[in-house]
Amino acid sequence: YSLKKQNTFGVDVSAKYFAEVTSLDELTQILRNTSVQKFKLLFLGGGSNVLFTQDFEGVVLQLNLKGISEKILNEDEVLVTSKAGENWHEFVQFCLGQNYGGLENLSLIPGNVGTSPMQNIGAYGTEIKDTFVSCKVLNLETLVVEEFNHEKCDFGYRESIFKREGKGKYVILEVTFKLTRKDHLIKTEYGAIQSELKNLGVENPTIQEVSKAVINIRQSKLPDPKVIGNAGSFFKNPSIPMEQFLEVQKRYPEMPHYPNGNLVKVPAGWLIEQCGWKGKQIGNVASHELQSLVIVNKTGLASGKEVFDFSTMIIESVKEKFGIELEREVNII
Ligand code: EPU
Repeated sequence: YSLKKQNTFGVDVSAKYFAEVTSLDELTQILRNTSVQKFKLLFLGGGSNVLFTQDFEGVVLQLNLKGISEKILNEDEVLVTSKAGENWHEFVQFCLGQNYGGLENLSLIPGNVGTSPMQNIGAYGTEIKDTFVSCKVLNLETLVVEEFNHEKCDFGYRESIFKREGKGKYVILEVTFKLTRKDHLIKTEYGAIQSELKNLGVENPTIQEVSKAVINIRQSKLPDPKVIGNAGSFFKNPSIPMEQFLEVQKRYPEMPHYPNGNLVKVPAGWLIEQCGWKGKQIGNVASHELQSLVIVNKTGLASGKEVFDFSTMIIESVKEKFGIELEREVNII
């Protein structure tokens, strides 16, 4: 079964078996099936954060559970629950249509709701941990549904329990967020949002206008995976110890940086650009010309291995120039 359309990199690999799952019943039936149990399993959401470097000799299950429900808590708050298979951006748009605030800065992020907690998706000053309440998961060992509250998810920057101790042990079935119904907290500290709102001539933005600004910014510098294969930021922004930062800063005083306790976060995009990678193409793969943190399948013909090797070259050159080790954010399969 070709997975070319199931991964936003558009890498042409195949799975031995593939099934689309639309309910919890279907999922548990498949998992109880002894012929399925002989194979490795891989759960796929929107396929927007994976890089397949080879064919998958097992069963790929695409989670397509759909449905959104709401529970009004009081005048100002509402709980909104979405099944895992809802498209993230459509879910955000649904919430904005109901005038529910909290997710507007996360507009246009590719992928599905069910995978959003795994890497605590974040952009423009917001992360899902800011509005996340809980998620329901299927424990793959016991096949019992469990609830994970905020604390249990142990969110960090592009991190959660699902990428660490919980890796491969659970499937996220649905996610609940607490959103605002009025007196929305508008988050526009991120410089790019401020300037885009200015461009739009908006002074006191609504959540819908913040969403519009975010959409404009993303469309202006991030490649649309439908047009050119990519998985968004390929690397995390590294955090380095203050001492190391001060050393590097002596050589590169203009380096952008965001202090965070004893650590300093440095934009990976800047480091990569300084190493001369921005817009550079090797074979079928390139670093995006407007945002070097994004690796693109430039010709549409790249293999996963080619993309992976390209990312290794970037890691090596950043390490050599700055002594900083970049970590891949995309899941390598
Ligand atoms: N920069 C460069 N050159 C580049 C790219 C960036 O010098 O090629 C510099 C910019 O000048 C700026 C800084 O790096 O000073 C930050 O750039 P930007 O605002 O584009 O954000 P980012 O840190 O590169 C992160 C997320 C994005 C998210 C944006 C906006 C990570 C790994 N990435 O990127 O997430 O949209 O912030 O909040 O944290 C994604 O995960 O797929 C993604 C796009």
